Parts: sequence; structure tokens; C-alpha cells
Amino acid sequence: MKKTTILFLLLAMALSHAQKFENLAQTPPLGWNSWNTFGTDINEELVKGIADKFVELGLKDAGYQYIVLDDGWMSKERDANGNLVADPIKFPNGMKALADYIHSKGLKFGLYNCAGATTCAGYPGSRGHEYQDARTYASWDVDYLKYDWCNTDKINAESAYTTMRDALYKAGRPVVFSICEWGDNEPWKWAKDIGHLWRVTGDIINCWDCEVGHGSWSSSGIWKIINMRKDIRKAAGPGHWNDFDMMEVGNGMTGAEDRTHFAMWSMLASPLIMGNDLRTASKETIKTLSNKEVIAVNQDKLGIQGFRFTNENNMEIWLKPLDNNQWAMTFINMSDNPVDFVFDWKKHNIGDDVNGRYVDMKKNVFKIRDVFNHKNLGDTSTNLKAKIEPHDVLMVTLKE
Ligand code: GLA
Repeated sequence: MKKTTILFLLLAMALSHAQKFENLAQTPPLGWNSWNTFGTDINEELVKGIADKFVELGLKDAGYQYIVLDDGWMSKERDANGNLVADPIKFPNGMKALADYIHSKGLKFGLYNCAGATTCAGYPGSRGHEYQDARTYASWDVDYLKYDWCNTDKINAESAYTTMRDALYKAGRPVVFSICEWGDNEPWKWAKDIGHLWRVTGDIINCWDCEVGHGSWSSSGIWKIINMRKDIRKAAGPGHWNDFDMMEVGNGMTGAEDRTHFAMWSMLASPLIMGNDLRTASKETIKTLSNKEVIAVNQDKLGIQGFRFTNENNMEIWLKPLDNNQWAMTFINMSDNPVDFVFDWKKHNIGDDVNGRYVDMKKNVFKIRDVFNHKNLGDTSTNLKAKIEPHDVLMVTLKE
């Protein structure tokens, strides 16, 4: 056989073999999702308003791209041909028109569905309709699919998510595939070639460290979520992320707690999916969400998930190795009182065993940058001194 024929055959085989779309989420996806604030009470005007705010408030400029409609966008029944239909009252112009609007702003459009027979809120799920639904999404120019796990009986998670991945690939339009089975089947062990991100826990709720029961399941505050899954960092990397859930920034915690939440999601290389009402958000909330220096830590191209360095004396200290031998370091005052904090660089061995990166602070001097406040704080030749308010954060980068 001629070399060109062999190459052609190899290419044809590669194209016919279903896989996930590559190069779509080389850094954690940035966007907005309707669920945390609106539940199923969503509509066209709301979503267009959110898209407008992405541009007006500088969120698009800060890197946010995806606008994702969660549960509740569909009619309760499929049409006579089994196709999904957008709820005609909530979305009178249909999903393609909404996608066009979002795309006209230079943004991307996402939808939600579920691997089960029905979604968690009781709308038609994709089970048995995977290929048909994928074609529908492609015809509406959908760029992102969040795929949930309610009403799945005893089906196998890996194979259910693989079926939907294959269906999306076959439909031909590149889609970021967001796996949402709450960590029940440990997707960090099998989903790297299936999805671009996977939820690692059940649902988040807008509190610092609470757990709220709902009968058979419970929602968790931000520190509960962090502590549950801080040990799976090896699974994250370019194209495949541990998803710590949509953010609750702006949804009722204090400004300090919101900053810490945002800092931690950035340190964890989690997708940053806003979950608040951008149309009524305070200046402080938008300032937190659009902080480009913090987002740059999240979007660092190495894609290494950060880790806990210590948590002594009510102070959490986290590290994240960054590109160009830089580091991000985050200090959180977990107590209810302000703290005058002193950190002696020479007394700590900064390093990351998993990635084999170490710093000798006796030999190397790093410049310190306060990324929340856009200020230089001297260098590591002297102790770091800072006042940190209760539940607030000092987030710095270290650069040689
Ligand atoms: C599950 C998911 C949530 C949301 C709802 C919608 O609880 O974990 O993020 O999508 O379903 O019903």
C-alpha cells in the first residue's frame, strides 16, 4: 500500500472512532450557570440580560465565556418525533435564537440534561435518546453540555457518560462535556477521556462550612466541599478538571468569605462558573469575580491543582505551582477575629512532591505580589507580615 493510502486510512479510522473533543478546555472553563440562584425559574429575558452583563461588567473581558442553562429549560414532553423542545413560554423564540444572541456577544452557549429517564427536576432525560439529543444540540449551536445523574436506576456511570460523549462527537459540533454525577462513582478515576470536567461532590450551598440536609441528600458549604476532595489533585490537568461546583460568590456569604471562596476555586484549578444574579450583583461581588490576577492563577497553563500546605493555628495555607517557576500561595484566616500574621519564609520548605517542584528559600529570593489588591509586597528575604480579617484571604504569587 502506498504511504498516502495508509495515512488516509489512519485518518479515516481516527475520525470514525468516537472520542471527546480535544483542546476545548485546556484551562478550567469560565462561565455562568442558572441553577444556584434561579433553579428552574429561568427564561429568555433573564438569559439575555446575563449575556449583556457579561459584556457591560467586564466579565467577558476577564475571560468568562460560557452561559449555561441548567434544569428547567425544556417542555415536560418531547415532541411527536421524540425531540426535546424548549419551553415555549419561558423561551418563546427557541434555543437557536438564544444561542445566536449569546454568540453575537462573542460568548458561548450551554445546556443541561441528564443521563437518567428524567432530569432531577422531572424534565425529559436523555436515556435512550442520546444520539437524537446530541443532534438537537448541534442544530441549536450548543457549545457546552452539563450532564446530570438523577433517575439513572442501576446503569453504569462510565458507560452512560461514554454513550453521551460518543453521541456528541458523532453530531459533529465541538461541545465541552461537563459530567455531573456528584463524585458518586469517582469519575476522576475513569473520566479523563470522556469529559472535560466532572463534579466531585453533591451540591454546593452558600455557606462557609455548613451541611444542609434535604432528606436523602445534603448540600455542602465551601469548606465541606474542599475538605471532602482535596486529595484527588493528580486527576486534574489541561482538558480534564475536578469541578468543585458552581460558585456561590454574591449569594449571601460575607465579602471576605466570597473572596476566600473565589481564591480557593482558583487555587484548586476548578472551573469558575458564576452562580449569582449578575443583573443585581454588588460592586464588591463583581470586583471579586472579575479580578484578573486571581483568575490568572486559576487559568495558569500548567493546570496543576493546588494543595494544602498547612492548617495550623486557624490559618489555612495553600500552594499552587505556576508556569515559569512561579507559585501561588493563599493564607486564610479561619478564625472569627482579625489576625496579625507573620510568615518566616526561611522556616518553611515550600515544595510539591507530586510534581517534584521545590524551592529553597535560603538560596532563592522571590518577589511577592498581592493578587487581590494588585500590590507588590516586597520579597521573601524578610518575613511576610499581614493583617487578615476573619474568613478573609491573602493571596500572593511568588516570582523570582
Ligand atoms: C443536581 C445537580 C445540580 C443541578 C440540579 C438540577 O442536583 O447537582 O447542580 O443541576 O440537579 O435539577
